[in-house]
Amino acid sequence: MDDHNYKLNTFLYNKIKDISNIKILEFGVREGASTKLFVDLAEKNNGDVVSVDIDDYSNLIKSSRWKFIHSRDDNFKEIQKQISTNLDVILLDSFHEALHVSKIIYNYYDYLKKGGYFFIDDISWIPYLKNGYRDNFWCEVNNRETFFKIIDIYSCNSHNFDLDFTFISSGFAVLKKKTNQKLNEIEKKSDRSVSIKNLLRLLKKKI
Ligand SMILES: C[S@@+](CC[C@H](N)C(=O)[O-])C[C@H]1O[C@@H](n2cnc3c(N)ncnc32)[C@H](O)[C@@H]1O
Repeated sequence: MDDHNYKLNTFLYNKIKDISNIKILEFGVREGASTKLFVDLAEKNNGDVVSVDIDDYSNLIKSSRWKFIHSRDDNFKEIQKQISTNLDVILLDSFHEALHVSKIIYNYYDYLKKGGYFFIDDISWIPYLKNGYRDNFWCEVNNRETFFKIIDIYSCNSHNFDLDFTFISSGFAVLKKKTNQKLNEIEKKSDRSVSIKNLLRLLKKKI
């Protein structure tokens, strides 16, 4: 099993495998590792899966439990017409850039039912560091920014959802919805790592 499938199985599948009548929405299909996992589960648990991609993957799987939407994930008007309002699972694995990820979270969060999971792929920069096993500048900086963007959303919404991470492979964040309230917008909290007090603390440590 490759590390992407291992991550899907250990971190994602175990959380959702017993949900009956499961309703899933995913952004990003390509090889279809997550899509196949979801459709197999929907066939077992009497559920349904909607997948969205800018490339046409409509022939990837034949199943009455699967619907493919050929579109950008931020084509909100069109997609929102075609999805249910009580989703158990949303997976975002399309365009891994922090502002885009934030836009997708804010636009689809209300479609998730209380107790539902919002998974976000690619939040770890560690494999992409210089000389790392996937050395890649763009993935390194985008994934780090995405990680901290999710922390910023959580800082203003810790009463609305629980947050967890894995750093297996390129990582995953998962938001577990706790209330039916709307998400609060990000409000930057003051960061004391750049305060005079902390500067003095660091200087003292060096002396
Ligand atoms: C990493 S792959 C998805 C992998 C898949 N989830 C899996 O587990 O095998 C990313 C996919 O997102 C699609 N994509 C990229 N940007 C997108 C966007 N803005 N809207 C919809 N799909 C997008 C790409 O065409 C590509 O198929």
